[in-house]
Amino acid sequence: MDSQYPVFVNGTRVVPQPNSCLIYSWLASTFDILNLESLIFLNEIQRNLATREIIESVSARYPDESKDLIASDVDRLLAFLQERGYLELSSSPGANDEIFEFVDRMDEVKVVQADLEITKNCNLRCAYCFDEAAAGYPVLAVGKWIELFDSLHGAGLRVLKVSGGEPFTYPAILEFLEYAQEKFIVSINTNGHYVDERVAARLAGMHLQAVQVSLDSATSHVHDLFRGVGTWERAVRAIDLLHGQGVPLRISATATTRNVDGLQQLRDFAHARDAELSVEVLKPVGKAASMDATHFLADPQVVTQYSEKASAHKVLGEMAMTCQAQLGVVGISYKGNIKPCNLTEEFFDDRRADVVKSLDEDWRYDGSATLSASNAASERVVGLMASGAIESKDKCIFEY
Ligand SMILES: C[S@@+](CC[C@H](N)C(=O)[O-])C[C@H]1O[C@@H](n2cnc3c(N)ncnc32)[C@H](O)[C@@H]1O
Ligand code: SF4
Repeated sequence: MDSQYPVFVNGTRVVPQPNSCLIYSWLASTFDILNLESLIFLNEIQRNLATREIIESVSARYPDESKDLIASDVDRLLAFLQERGYLELSSSPGANDEIFEFVDRMDEVKVVQADLEITKNCNLRCAYCFDEAAAGYPVLAVGKWIELFDSLHGAGLRVLKVSGGEPFTYPAILEFLEYAQEKFIVSINTNGHYVDERVAARLAGMHLQAVQVSLDSATSHVHDLFRGVGTWERAVRAIDLLHGQGVPLRISATATTRNVDGLQQLRDFAHARDAELSVEVLKPVGKAASMDATHFLADPQVVTQYSEKASAHKVLGEMAMTCQAQLGVVGISYKGNIKPCNLTEEFFDDRRADVVKSLDEDWRYDGSATLSASNAASERVVGLMASGAIESKDKCIFEY
């Protein structure tokens, strides 16, 4: 172990942020957010040192820290990086010099991940939909999206979560995905309604991180309660077709008091189809804001044991800041507006509508995307949170 050298697998890249550090591999379809402390170790690994030398070097720089603690942090980080496909241990040094991106902009928040609301249109009317998706919203032409994402890729964007609304109501969704998966680590959320044999076969031919199908329960009537009669059947049909085609699958459940007792059964259901289960707690946002209080979980922590969401690993302890704007994650609305968060209007207190408006304007894509605008907006979000002018945690749906 002591004379082993950590060597990054081809294609692994690290993007340092002011408050965190991101690591990704397009080849392995993996992306993780690490805390800032990890950067110290990643810096040493980059110097092509042996594990023993890394521990010595960090100990010399931090003489007040216990050497045992540093050794244990190195072990934990290396184990995690191996498990996620970023790194291997070798008996000789590798070439780790190329792993960092955008180090010349260490102080800026780089936009690395986008949560894309490709359309606000949806065929369903789930009682809890935070997006209040419906029908009749205009859509952007696929050429416009491609133009935007070409530009954002040049600016550092690497991870794309396609959502909505229902993305499969977007007319050119397959064409868009075929474009996006060549440049980005792509996952897509769906209610499954439009995933038939033909669509599943097209998706199977792509390099996708995951197709995430919403399913609240292994029992149809529990799922259909908030999502509509017949929706469970269509979602399960999609899951089985995708599984049959070998598409990487994730099942996503929205946890309420009505389905919480069935989450273990749902997890078994997911595992039987080689899918991981991700559980999000129902949040009082959008349509859910007017739902009866009895549907919301009193203790959201009870679902964490069931969720296997493969992102935001906090390997070396908690991160100081949890707002996604700080981590280089942006929301992009169906109009093509780039925002600190797709929940902006709900995410920030209504009384701060002035802030919401100016943030939206700051982040608007104008054909020449630069990271300075996103950085300025992120700083403002953080400043406003620090001063107590806005709050995030109670209304934020995305947990980092
Ligand atoms: C808005 S939907 C968009 C993608 C697709 N239409 C679907 O339903 O999967 C994305 C996810 O958000 C979840 N969701 C909707 N409203 C929510 C809320 N109020 N709180 C927590 N999750 C919510 C949905 O169940 C779904 O898994
Ligand atoms: S949760 Fe998804 S499927 Fe349900 S209404 Fe909202 S966008 Fe449509």
